[in-house]
Amino acid sequence: MIPFAYRERELHAEGVALSRIAEAFGTPCYVYSRGALHAAYRAFDTAFGNRDHLVCYAVKASSNLAILNLFARLGSGFDIVSGGELSRIIAAGGNPGKVVFSGVGKSATEMRMALDAGILCFNVESASELERLEHVARDAGRVAPISIRVNPDVDARTHPYIATGLKESKFGVPYAEAFHLYREAKGLAHLAVRGIDCHIGSQLTELAPINAALERIVDLVDRLERAGIALTHIDCGGGLGIRYRDETPPLIDDYARVVLKVMGNRPHRLLFEPGRLLVGNAGMLLARVEYLKRGEAGNFAIVDAAMNDLMRPALYDAWHEILPVTQREGRAVYEVVGPVCESGDFIGHQRTLCIAEGDLLAIMSAGAYGMSMASNYNTRPRAAEVMVDGEAMHLIGERETVAALMAREHRLP
Ligand code: LLP
Repeated sequence: MIPFAYRERELHAEGVALSRIAEAFGTPCYVYSRGALHAAYRAFDTAFGNRDHLVCYAVKASSNLAILNLFARLGSGFDIVSGGELSRIIAAGGNPGKVVFSGVGKSATEMRMALDAGILCFNVESASELERLEHVARDAGRVAPISIRVNPDVDARTHPYIATGLKESKFGVPYAEAFHLYREAKGLAHLAVRGIDCHIGSQLTELAPINAALERIVDLVDRLERAGIALTHIDCGGGLGIRYRDETPPLIDDYARVVLKVMGNRPHRLLFEPGRLLVGNAGMLLARVEYLKRGEAGNFAIVDAAMNDLMRPALYDAWHEILPVTQREGRAVYEVVGPVCESGDFIGHQRTLCIAEGDLLAIMSAGAYGMSMASNYNTRPRAAEVMVDGEAMHLIGERETVAALMAREHRLP
């Protein structure tokens, strides 16, 4: 499935010219391909064949209700990190019984909400959280299903901001303490020990660290079992990378082979928390060139999308391909930047493009951690979101208005 391709020198999303989308909904605008979302989910899900498993899409990657609804219809579960994300699952028609709740800072209110909704599992990240959850469950007259997120202390070899499995990281319970914490959990009346989980980082492009982490996890699972603590599931986390430029992330089938080999014939149900892999290359950000400006040291293409719309370049120095929507002859090198008043507000450095003022640009691979990380910096309303399905386009997220931004604020009396 190739969601975005040129037809007669004009970039299309499935069967719709991107210029038509810009005309109908304006720019900046996130555009997603339904076919690509569907295909990515299916590829992941089918890679595990008949093995009992559940894909829990990591909502933080892109949390639009239409996307959540699409995955829910395909049978997906969800990995959430806030009460807000749980509300989205419910609003999107997702099944709370297929939700795992990750995150280091769950509040008592969020725990109560998740207990009332009947989620599948709390991925507990500390001893204090375990204690709090026991109290909240007791007060609610419920039993909370738990897994402990174990930090396997493995270097995922990814960007330091998105590596989560090192011992310096705030995530999970140190490997050496996990066994003891399971013992403690087992003794608490309002907790039901169900599983184990780990997540070593995002945009992983190698299988070796994943393999190493899972081997440590199953070793712990076996030791727990011998101590009379049998688990029903193993949550392998998310993190598989995608190609933005020239990365060679593992193929899903190779990933599945590694996972299944480590698991052997253990009876556990497998859970997965992919985010980026399911949405990253299924979405892009459509922007328009406002100005071409000659600087002393080079050319700037000033576009109407900025770091508030797509934060990844500014935050991680991330590289996103930038394509002209209409192909022309000739070329020049540009700093592609947004209108935000920060020198860090760039979309791409030193890109060779043939463009004129008023042209449309496609910022590719922006389906994951694009809109979901957007902000209102510089009082810029968040972009519109459109889903293309064959020849049809659907507005799935309205462009925010400045009035809506200000509506939550009050002048002094
Ligand atoms: N599970 C847990 C517990 C996570 O923390 C994450 C991502 C995922 C699953 C999904 O990981 P994925 O499959 O998407 O790699 N904003 C950054 C990425 C942050 C990832 C945070 N955790 C970026 O734009 O690259």
